[in-house]
Amino acid sequence: MSTNEGSANQPQQTPTISVNGNGVAVNGSDPSDLFDPWCDPNRPRIVQFQDISAAAFKIKSGIMMTPCTRSHLSNLTGTQIFFKKDFLQYTGSFKERGARYTLLMLPEANQKQGVCTASAGNHALALSYHGQELGIPVTVVMPIVAPIMKVQSCRQFGANIIIHGRDIGESREFAMRLAKEKSLTYINGYDHPHIIAGQGTMGLEIVEQVKNIDAVVVPVGGGGLIAGVALAVKSLYPHIQVIGVESERCASFSCALKVGQPIYTKAESTLADGLAVPRVGINSLATAAPLVDKCVVVKEEYIAMAILRLVEIEKAVVEGAGACGLAAILAGLLPELKGKRVVIPLCGGNIDTTVLGRCLERGLAVDGRLVKFSVTVSDRPGGIAELCRLMANLGVSIKDILHERAWLKSDIFSVEVRVMCETRDLEHAVELERALKEHYNNVHFGKMADALGGSGLTVDEVMDSRSPLL
Ligand SMILES: Cc1ncc(COP(=O)(O)O)c(C=O)c1O
Repeated sequence: MSTNEGSANQPQQTPTISVNGNGVAVNGSDPSDLFDPWCDPNRPRIVQFQDISAAAFKIKSGIMMTPCTRSHLSNLTGTQIFFKKDFLQYTGSFKERGARYTLLMLPEANQKQGVCTASAGNHALALSYHGQELGIPVTVVMPIVAPIMKVQSCRQFGANIIIHGRDIGESREFAMRLAKEKSLTYINGYDHPHIIAGQGTMGLEIVEQVKNIDAVVVPVGGGGLIAGVALAVKSLYPHIQVIGVESERCASFSCALKVGQPIYTKAESTLADGLAVPRVGINSLATAAPLVDKCVVVKEEYIAMAILRLVEIEKAVVEGAGACGLAAILAGLLPELKGKRVVIPLCGGNIDTTVLGRCLERGLAVDGRLVKFSVTVSDRPGGIAELCRLMANLGVSIKDILHERAWLKSDIFSVEVRVMCETRDLEHAVELERALKEHYNNVHFGKMADALGGSGLTVDEVMDSRSPLL
């Protein structure tokens, strides 16, 4: 990969947008006119450490230095975990760092004219809020799938919100076209060099707040955060490991590292919606690739479980994307970090309440604390009571119970009962399954797939296969 552009600070004005990536003049209807001169696939810009220190100085007055404290989860995981709590920023994510710096770096004329971006979430919020703070008009194009909570909040921050596109790719195309038409500055939320420099300020704070760090585990979407953090951390302490984490439903950074350039990777729906970027940034990859030690992909069930652990143990509401670092530890993907001092950014807290509820339920299901099964019992008086007694004797609490007769093929005096219940833990769920199977012939215990979308295991099998950290 050619990485030939040096410092990200060089072009201070917005470059002309009348040429595409190959420097060819284009007309208005050609999609190739949607060229972002700050993110030129043919001329990647490598952000420099001095860009981050400049950003730190410039944004200091408008961004919170969030706490980075030892976690209660250290005992559970056997890793000394320190959480960098950027979900405490005013708009609920680290994205404010890059957004504020990029807005501050705009030439005055561009500030007056306004900026435009495409984002489904945190970047949109951050840009809207800091735009309002700095008196810079902001237009945000959001895809129809954008979380309702994030759309509403952007409106509250006075941004011009346009809902357009089935996915972020379509929103981006529209936003870039709009930027061109209205002479707005288009700001890529993970690849603009000033965005990357701004995100890097988190790395500076981390090394200031925690001594003797062994590793930093960073969630990766388009790559802006990991590029900035890796640059800050490795410039000051080259021995610190920087590890990326992606959802397995969109492993675009891992793919890009393999092939040496950003490459389209299918993005399926994930609890970590903030990380679902199908093609990572050209500048973020060029900056991060030489610095990142490795990148792992995490399954959805561990993201749900991380969200649950953070609520229960850390008393922190963190969205899926922000919980991926912990998810990788819980999944046992980083055994080399046992006993080490590890910083994990909890980088976003913007999760719809309904989605949070579903995540917590899924987390409980993975834990074996929320279980469902069906069982055929006698339809004579006392048949269902007997089942309830069996469960009560085991200390299992029924959440939902339903019985049906019409579709049963077995004898007419049987009834199928479906139960959703709460158990203490996975061991308790296994005890329940065994007791039911000893007592009844026809027991169908819930597959974990029902809760997790794909594992296909019974609780017993999950017991055998799960990470020793759970
Ligand atoms: C909460 C959260 N964490 C991590 C990321 C990943 O950041 P990046 O796209 O810069 O890799 C995002 C991106 O939106 C995010 O919202």
